[in-house]
Amino acid sequence: MCGIVGYIGTQAASDILLEGLQKLEYRGYDSAGIATIWDGKLHRVRAKGKLQNLHDKLEGLHIPATIGIGHTRWATHGKPEEHNAHPHADMAEQIAVVQNGIIENYRELRDDLKAKGYTFRSETDTEVIPNLIAECLQQVNTEGNAALPFVEAVRRAVNQLQGAFALAILSAAYPDELIAVRQQAPISIGFGQGEFFCASDTPAMVARTRTVLTLENGEIARLTPLGVEVYNFAGERLRKAPRTLNWNPILVEKQGFKHFMLKEIYEQPGVVRAGLEAYLDSDWTAASNRSPIHLNLPDAFYDDIDQIQIVACGTSWHAGLVGKHVLEQLAEIPTQVHYASEFRYAPTPLTPHTLTIGVTQSGETADTLSALEMEKHRRAEMDRKFQPKLLGITNRMDSTLAHIADYLLNTHAGIEIGVAATKTFTAQLIAFYCLALDLAYRRRTVALERLEQIVTELRQLPAQIESILEVQERYIEQLAHEFEDTQDFIFIGRGINFPIALEGALKLKEISYIHAEGYPAGEMKHGPIALLDAKVPVVAIAMPGLVFEKVLSNAQEAKARDARLIGVTPMDDHEAAEVFDDLLPVPEVEELLSPLLTVIPLQFLAYHIAARRGLDVDQPRNLAKSVTVE
Ligand code: G6P
Repeated sequence: MCGIVGYIGTQAASDILLEGLQKLEYRGYDSAGIATIWDGKLHRVRAKGKLQNLHDKLEGLHIPATIGIGHTRWATHGKPEEHNAHPHADMAEQIAVVQNGIIENYRELRDDLKAKGYTFRSETDTEVIPNLIAECLQQVNTEGNAALPFVEAVRRAVNQLQGAFALAILSAAYPDELIAVRQQAPISIGFGQGEFFCASDTPAMVARTRTVLTLENGEIARLTPLGVEVYNFAGERLRKAPRTLNWNPILVEKQGFKHFMLKEIYEQPGVVRAGLEAYLDSDWTAASNRSPIHLNLPDAFYDDIDQIQIVACGTSWHAGLVGKHVLEQLAEIPTQVHYASEFRYAPTPLTPHTLTIGVTQSGETADTLSALEMEKHRRAEMDRKFQPKLLGITNRMDSTLAHIADYLLNTHAGIEIGVAATKTFTAQLIAFYCLALDLAYRRRTVALERLEQIVTELRQLPAQIESILEVQERYIEQLAHEFEDTQDFIFIGRGINFPIALEGALKLKEISYIHAEGYPAGEMKHGPIALLDAKVPVVAIAMPGLVFEKVLSNAQEAKARDARLIGVTPMDDHEAAEVFDDLLPVPEVEELLSPLLTVIPLQFLAYHIAARRGLDVDQPRNLAKSVTVE
């Protein structure tokens, strides 16, 4: 949430900053801005709305500066207007700051600064920071004994800030220094040849360098044309070595697709294949005498798991619901799923021998991280059987989650840019299936023949997803035309496909702005059925298995209320063909694994309705990909 970039080197900073911001725009797009230094002065250019507006403003300005910072904003404090856009400067227009996060004690700091004569021009929390640094710089310079006055002033200022934040800072008085700070919000440093970068996320730098250093909480980096120094908040110099990303910059390009979301939908067969390659033993048979899954977790992980609690937000929470189903049905471990934002302030009473799983594709969602930290701390104070055991499921092994969790499972989906999660969701499902199968094998809760059957079907999934992609897109694109003006949608499913109904509804809400609800199909008659008429289409997920006939009956109940019925059903199922007005068929598959197929047409449906409405699919209004504020 909110994207930060910084550059110091020999090239035109504003071009490089814009290029970086473009890669970070998924983090927020309420406004954007850059600050550069040239001719001894600070120059700020800011624009409300999408990055293109900033781009248009910058065109023709030809700023020759070789140092600068930039920001793309997701508004928290203050409306998305230009005067609230970052970078913010101190009253004297000497120091510029971009921030990602929230300064919780900004009112107090602002009042103190106001009392000292500082004036403010925005409603943001961020504006206190450049003014506080200016105040500290004045003290430092008056004392006159700091070797690096600018860093020292920043250090004194950040020690007074409360909250979670990442900062990039410039001062016209120190035109060869760019400072980056991390406290509970991510920021990384990039090392080029005679040029250095900082950014909230590595995609912003990957086209220019793959040598990066991710700052830890409580660290300050000083970037100069000569190199990078890192200090802690106490002012001690730290020795840190950068690492090389093994990333392909092509992943952050659209590669001919109209939107990242569409490209990412199409990447799913590969993502599922990568997940299975990572965790599924390719030679395994029921006779192998070992687990079909190798998660590369130490033995200690498997000890004493009597209960599981999952915390997550958004789409990751839906993956958690599927996870609960398989962990309970296969491994027979009682599992609860919590919204991270609820769990943090109303945690369940402590249970012994409990595995806590945090699911977050970005590894940076503030609600999820805070909930996990809270759980870790409250358990650490208890006796042995209550001790924390935290497993993180994430797509970003270098994220903050990695610092909090004791164990990690990588979802191997590759970077996802579209704000609406697609491939990271299917990748999370694969992680849950593998975890549940591994636990089921070790606990002997599933017969070997049954395990073999599931493993065989798992291996077929990538090809089955491919077949859905090939056959369905055109049809769904056509179908989407008919819902251009629809205002409400209902999605129903039961059992393991209930979370997919929720996910289908969420996808549609997020990108098409159509009101949509996901319901357990059997609950319809207890209220929501009152909403139905000819104007409210119902999408039912009806896959063969325990609840197939039940879902068909629930769909019939909707049809009897004139609702148009769309069915995600197995191919060539005559019964389903009779019930539904429109069919979104998927290959027949073991019910337990069906979410990996049934979600695909729903992603397409949401995508094509939104695209048909001419909406910005990759950057839907008011949303951000990675929500780093609570
Ligand atoms: C935001 C995104 C959602 C995402 C959720 C959780 O709200 O817009 O698409 O599902 O965050 O993100 P995480 O990175 O924790 O999985």
